[in-house]
Amino acid sequence: MTGSHQDINQPETFEFDAGNLELADSFIAKYPEGWQASAVMPILDLAQRQSGGWLPKAAMDTVAGMLDMPPIRVYEVATFYTMYNLKPVGKHHVQVCTNLPCWLQGSDAVTGACRKFLGIDFGMTTEDGMFTLSEVECLGACVNAPMMQIGDDYYEDLDSGSTEEILEALKAGETPKPGSQTGRHTCEPAGGLTVLQETGKGAGK
Ligand code: FES
Repeated sequence: MTGSHQDINQPETFEFDAGNLELADSFIAKYPEGWQASAVMPILDLAQRQSGGWLPKAAMDTVAGMLDMPPIRVYEVATFYTMYNLKPVGKHHVQVCTNLPCWLQGSDAVTGACRKFLGIDFGMTTEDGMFTLSEVECLGACVNAPMMQIGDDYYEDLDSGSTEEILEALKAGETPKPGSQTGRHTCEPAGGLTVLQETGKGAGK
C-alpha cells in the first residue's frame, strides 16, 4: 500500500484536449466579462477528470492561465475542497463520511468494513491501484446516513455487510447499484410513506 506524498510523479505540462477545451469555454461563457475566475471549480474538475482523478500542479497552472488568475488563488481552491485530489488516487476513490449524522447512524461500521476489506487506512491506496480510501466531511446525504461516495456515485443507508458487498462487486468489475442499500426509494421515510399515500387523488382539479 502507498500513502506518502513523496513519490508523486508530477507531469511537466498539462493541456486540455479539444473536447474538454470546448467544455471549459462553455463554463467560462456563463459568467460576465471580467468574472471568468468564477468558472474555476468546474474547470478544475474537468482537469482532474482528464488527469485520471487527480490534479497535477501543471493542470492547476494551466487553469490559472486560462482564467487570468494568480496560480496561488487556484491552489487555494484546490487545497480547500476534498473533491480535488492533489495526488493520484486508485481506480475507485472510496470516500466515507464520518461527520456527525453519519457517525450517529453507524459510520464506524462502514469505516471498519472498508479498512478490513481493503487492508488500508484513510489516505492510502491499495497496492494494485484499485482503491483509495478517504475520510470526508458531510456530503449532503445525511437523511440516508451513513453513506460513502465512490467515484460519482453515492451509496447510502449502509452497514458493514452492504459496504463489503459494494466493495466486493467493484473488485469483481461489476457496477453496484447506487443510492439506498435498504431498498427505500430515494430519501422517503425509512418506515414507508406516512403522508400523500393516495397518489392521483385530486389530480386534474
Ligand atoms: Fe454524512 Fe451529512 S453527515 S452526509
